[in-house]
Amino acid sequence: MDMIGEIVAFEESALAAIAAAPDAKALEDVRIKFAGRKQGGLRDVQALVGKADPAERPAVGKRFNEAKTKVESALEARQKELARPKAVAGALDITLPGTPLRLGKKHPLVQTMDELKDIMGRFGFSVAEGPEIEDEWHNFEALNIPEDHPARDPLDNFYLAAASVAAANPGGARSSGSGGPVLLRTQTSTVQIRVMEKQRPPVRVVSLGRVFRPDTIDASHSCVFNQMEGLMVDRGVTMAQLKTVIRMLFSSYLEHDVSIRFRPSFFPFTEPSVEVDIPWGDDWMEIGGAGMVDPHVLSAVGYDPDEYTGFAFGLGVERLCMKRHGITDIRRFYENDVRFLRQF
Ligand code: DAH
Repeated sequence: MDMIGEIVAFEESALAAIAAAPDAKALEDVRIKFAGRKQGGLRDVQALVGKADPAERPAVGKRFNEAKTKVESALEARQKELARPKAVAGALDITLPGTPLRLGKKHPLVQTMDELKDIMGRFGFSVAEGPEIEDEWHNFEALNIPEDHPARDPLDNFYLAAASVAAANPGGARSSGSGGPVLLRTQTSTVQIRVMEKQRPPVRVVSLGRVFRPDTIDASHSCVFNQMEGLMVDRGVTMAQLKTVIRMLFSSYLEHDVSIRFRPSFFPFTEPSVEVDIPWGDDWMEIGGAGMVDPHVLSAVGYDPDEYTGFAFGLGVERLCMKRHGITDIRRFYENDVRFLRQF
């Protein structure tokens, strides 16, 4: 056989063996046999090229190089092919479009509370947290709501039957400072007390979270809803500042200038007290209460009412969110119907 013939024969048998290798292990054996660096067919054929007649050498060398390239690329291609996972017939059609991932998102009320915190943060208010299970001191007493006040009627509150357990084991209840009865907090004003007990003025905090009342549920009432409490105490804090902060807060959250209405009212922990309304259709809607912190409250936490004044407010988060998005029934927030929730 002439040299070119030998090269061609080598190439053919190498390519056939590569194509026939059933798996990676067999292919590696083929590679060593035909193209191994220490031994192997390619080396032997190359040796032949060295011995070729000088006149024939260029042609033989060229053909050898072709064979070498072909064999090496066939090896590489077959390696890749064998490494690929095998398609199981009928099991999976990879040409079908995938199932779209449905991403969850924050509940509209959580989005609202995040935005409110953000706006108040820009006014210099930090966020404080308080427990949902409260004792009577923080929910009533320190807020100037005495024992015989109608707001403390057991029928108007969710008192917990676990109260006696808490009394026996004060460390076991998250909130119980006094060891007395505990209840689900009816207002976030409790957090005013918790903050002032720990911190000296100046104070600027908001606290957002759930409150609980045995109310009859309708389009604008729920027995669980969210409030944002705000408190600012310092020397010389005024009612004008209160009104400015609330109006700027609403305008910022609702993304347009809003007028607000302060209606004289009464809360045991503020004096004077107001009800805060915003326009609602042709009418007004009550969004919460506010006022100047009652001196009794300041004294209860050891602040000197002659030195400090403060304002406080408590606003309904649901109602603000309803106003912004034109939602007319508060119950939509709690039904967890994704067709409703997906819109926000
Ligand atoms: N806690 C009151 C409520 O839930 C709302 C409120 C009124 C909060 C006046 C305040 C306030 O901080 O000053 O009805």
